Amino acid sequence: ASNRMWGGRFASGPDAIMEAINASIGFDRKLYTQDIRGSLAHAAMLAKTGIISAEDEKQISQGLNTILSEIESGKFEFSTRLEDIHMNIEARLAELIGPAAGRLHTARSRNDQVAVDFRLWVKEELQRIDRALGDLLEAFLNRAEEHYATVMPGFTHLQTAQPVTFGHHLMAYVEMFGRDRSRVRDAIERMDECPLGAAALAGTGFPTDRFMTAKALGFREPTRNSIDTVSDRDFALEFLSLAAICGVHLSRLAEEIVIWSTPQFGFVRLSDSFSTGSSIMPQKKNPDAAELIRAKTGRVNGHLIGLLTVMKGLPLAYSKDMQEDKEAVFDAAETLDLMIAAMTGMIKDIEINAAAMKKAAGSGFSTATDLADWLVREAGLPFREAHHVTGRAVALAEEKKCGLEKLSLEDLQAIHESINEGVYSVLSVSNSVKSRTSYGGTAPSEVRKQIKNWRKRLAKD
Ligand code: ARG
Repeated sequence: ASNRMWGGRFASGPDAIMEAINASIGFDRKLYTQDIRGSLAHAAMLAKTGIISAEDEKQISQGLNTILSEIESGKFEFSTRLEDIHMNIEARLAELIGPAAGRLHTARSRNDQVAVDFRLWVKEELQRIDRALGDLLEAFLNRAEEHYATVMPGFTHLQTAQPVTFGHHLMAYVEMFGRDRSRVRDAIERMDECPLGAAALAGTGFPTDRFMTAKALGFREPTRNSIDTVSDRDFALEFLSLAAICGVHLSRLAEEIVIWSTPQFGFVRLSDSFSTGSSIMPQKKNPDAAELIRAKTGRVNGHLIGLLTVMKGLPLAYSKDMQEDKEAVFDAAETLDLMIAAMTGMIKDIEINAAAMKKAAGSGFSTATDLADWLVREAGLPFREAHHVTGRAVALAEEKKCGLEKLSLEDLQAIHESINEGVYSVLSVSNSVKSRTSYGGTAPSEVRKQIKNWRKRLAKD
């Protein structure tokens, strides 16, 4: 038999393979609450503007509420033959209330219907991520406060560079996840326009009130161009972009946790609740959660490229290609939610080995820059010359297999006559970090200021 929803001009129904490639009910059933809310708002508007009768609206909304509880209690029978969530619900509404159900789709198309459902879903997901990032930021601030003066090696090229504080390193992630959160908010702000009422692509001749439905559904205003409205998936692309960037941040930290937790580094110990053992090697404690966060980033990135590629050649307005938007976004959302939750758990629990960090911070001539800076400050050398003198001191220490602070004053004076006792104070890692008091620098006093700033900022929103 042909399709009840659009089968007027069709003599026969679709091939089974056509049905299989066409149906989206397997995944878009996730949109049922949004679909019902959209329909309730649309029906109320149709009644208010006199397009349908109050009696029809009453039946429609009662029927939709029945369907909502049927779906929620698992009694609803989804049908692949009915393609998608929109037609499954409308068909059931017809069974429940008869001809009045057929009036619901007046002045509406599935093109604006799916756009409004999906926007509502993405907006709610963005609000979830906003809260989850708030929890993650809080966890970072708590750990940073504990470790604002804990010295660790800072790296460039993963080679020891200069001593920094662990609190400062954690606060770097606060900046990153803070930017992610502001991207979430920007995205919400930009997508906060209601597609409902654009109809198929041209708008409608019925005297609808799009401002009424926009308001009822919690959008700031209706969209302004009906063609753009049904063609646009920027909100989904923006979601995937910000998810990918946030994923990259999580992945970089995950990679650091993997490195830090190796016995060779020994900077951190993962809690039992966020690590796993090996079935053959009894001594092992593996950072699986961190590794999976790192890996799942690939999946989220893939979804972004996937949807960008779906959209890139589409002429205006709606094409069925756009049905491919949902699985990408649903999976990216579920994946990112889990990644953020796992990272939050790890950060809360992670044990810090301050002694190992400090020891490593002193290796690799990490205070060489401090020596060069001292020569500039105390002996008036131009920085380039000071750099050269320091290089010779490093070479000598390397030859003697000791740290810079273990070179004798005679040795140092043989390299440059202006060096005196005072130099030793800048060669310790603690003094090195304490001296980095520039705005945003690693000095414990600066790190504390930034923690305070962030606490204030988080309390405000
Ligand atoms: N299931 C479709 C989607 O996800 C709904 C819109 C269908 N519209 C249409 N004209 N076939 O995009």
